[in-house]
Amino acid sequence: MTHTEKTDWESKYQNKDTQWDKGEPSPGLVDFLLNEKLPDGGTVLVPGCGFGHDVRAWARAGFDTLGLDIAPTAIIRARELTPEGITAQFSKGDFLKNDHPTEYDWLFEHTLFCAIQPEHRADYVRAAARSVRKGGCLLAVHYIIPDEDGPPYGTTREEVCQRFESEFDLLKDWIPRSYSNRTGLERMFYWRKKKNQ
Ligand SMILES: C[S@@+](CC[C@H](N)C(=O)[O-])C[C@H]1O[C@@H](n2cnc3c(N)ncnc32)[C@H](O)[C@@H]1O
Repeated sequence: MTHTEKTDWESKYQNKDTQWDKGEPSPGLVDFLLNEKLPDGGTVLVPGCGFGHDVRAWARAGFDTLGLDIAPTAIIRARELTPEGITAQFSKGDFLKNDHPTEYDWLFEHTLFCAIQPEHRADYVRAAARSVRKGGCLLAVHYIIPDEDGPPYGTTREEVCQRFESEFDLLKDWIPRSYSNRTGLERMFYWRKKKNQ
C-alpha cells in the first residue's frame, strides 16, 4: 500500500473481494462511444481500471488506451482478459502521483473518485488536470450517493462541479444507463480542459 491509500486494494483483489466488478464496461460509456460524434482515435487514460473492461471498450472504439491501477493483481488479470487483436496497454501505478504519462486526449473516470479517501480529492483533480492536454476531455461516471463510510465514498453533483470547474469546462452532464444495481445513482460529466490553463 502507498501512503495515499487507506484501502488495501491489492488484498481485495487477492481475496476476490471485487463486488464492484460487473464483468463488462460501464453501460454509460458504451452508450457514449456508440452515440457521441467523436474525433477518430486519440489517446485515453483510464485510472483505477480494475480488470480493464472500460479500457477494452475504448480500444475497440479505435482509441490508443492505457489502463492504470494501483493493484498489481488487477493489472495481471486485465492483461489476461484482453484478447489478441485488442491493443490496450495496462500499467501498475498510483494515479495521485505524477508517475504516469500525461497530456492524454481523454481521461475516463469510473469509480475511482469514489474509491479514494475524500481528503485526496484535491490531489485527484490535480492529477486529472495534468493527465489531460489543453483542450482534451475528461469523461466521468460519478456515483452520486450519500455514503461517508466508503469506499465507495459519496459525492454530489454540486461537489463534482465545484471541484473540477477550475480546470475543466463542463460540456454536459446527464444520468446514464447503469448496471441494474446502480440505476439512477450515477451521473456522467463530459468536460473539456480549459485552453488557458
Ligand atoms: C471500485 S474499483 C473500480 C475498478 C474499475 N474502475 C471498475 O469500475 O470495475 C477502484 C479501483 O481503483 C484502484 N485504485 C485505487 N486507488 C488508486 C490510485 N491511487 N491509483 C490507481 N488506481 C487506484 C483500485 O485498485 C481499484 O481497482
